[in-house]
Amino acid sequence: MYLTREEEAILSGEHGPEYQKAMKVLVKLGEALGAERLVKVVHAHISGISYQNIGDAGLEFLEEYSKVKVRTYTTSNPLGFDMNLWREMGIPEEFYAKQLRIVKALRRMGVNETFTCTPYYIRKPLVGEHLAWGESNAVLYANSACGARTNREGGPSTVFAALIGKVPYMGVHVDENRVPQVLIKVNAPLRDQLYAGILGYIVGTYVKDKVPLIRNIGKITDDMVKALCAGLGTSSSTPLCFLENISPEISKMKLKYLELEKAEIDTQSFKDVIETYETLDSADTVFLGCPHLSYGEIMEVYRYIGKYDRKAKTPIILVTSRKVFEEIPPYVKLLFEKKNIKLIRDTCFVVSPLKYLGIRKVLTNSIKQAYYLSNIHGVRVGLCETRKCIGIAFGER
Ligand code: F3S
Repeated sequence: MYLTREEEAILSGEHGPEYQKAMKVLVKLGEALGAERLVKVVHAHISGISYQNIGDAGLEFLEEYSKVKVRTYTTSNPLGFDMNLWREMGIPEEFYAKQLRIVKALRRMGVNETFTCTPYYIRKPLVGEHLAWGESNAVLYANSACGARTNREGGPSTVFAALIGKVPYMGVHVDENRVPQVLIKVNAPLRDQLYAGILGYIVGTYVKDKVPLIRNIGKITDDMVKALCAGLGTSSSTPLCFLENISPEISKMKLKYLELEKAEIDTQSFKDVIETYETLDSADTVFLGCPHLSYGEIMEVYRYIGKYDRKAKTPIILVTSRKVFEEIPPYVKLLFEKKNIKLIRDTCFVVSPLKYLGIRKVLTNSIKQAYYLSNIHGVRVGLCETRKCIGIAFGER
């Protein structure tokens, strides 16, 4: 692999052992996968920072590299709990202390304490920009909705990329790999985030690691694109999809000349996915916020609950980033409090120590959350549209 003089110097240890190790890994990876060179990234997003997921080994890894600074703008994925509410959430002191050490390690490295899986709300990528992002929904959103370029990086590789400010030039960084391989036609209406997420999930099950081009999805909102990307990332390893009328690169493609494998998705496929989960008319918690909610989604909940003159019987938990949390007006937060709705930040149930939270039965509008809560945590899950989730929380049947 071709290296510049500066890259050679880092590799030979002139910048210190941490940068040297990081560079060694990137070069090995690039050589193994046939990259000709490294490419500069404008934004790294570090995933795998919840103590629940990475444990002591991950904590020690991050502390080892926290002696040096990142060399590109870097954000971070969710933690195991909301930093402001850890006592209220029942998080034990020891877990809190370990998570705090991770936060401090990231801080020393110069990582922005965003703690969200929606880094595109922090800094929206531009068409053609190279990134090094972990977190599958974010990777798919960056590539597919923004036209930026990032492979699906793993937790440690996002740290190495952040430290060097570069990644191997391969995968979907390269033009030739940014082409659709399977044409998917959707023959069903996408009513809200639930259906958009399930569509992504069904497509992912079909394409696995291939790049789909999804047509006939109508005018879907940005929040639905986000849900679609999250669903697709749950059931596939593809980093990229093309969405008709949305993906910036699609306008340059001569679609009618593409010879692609074809598949169609109908209404029954959506029902089949919903029926793999339980039909719940009650739950411990209604959970909305996988991926983290946008400002618009939170305000939609606010407007919707206006019709209820009572508190929700079942607590509704809304999860978002610190940034969006700060933007929500105080009168909205006040009404949420009155109506048994909790707006939290920094975390995600999937990477939380759920056993301390006493959650066994959840209603959600997110296929990604449903999949991981039932498969990793053994939680009973029901899937339904956002408004129905809220309605059930308020005691409607
Ligand atoms: Fe985000 Fe957790 Fe869902 S990291 S995408 S809220 S599983």
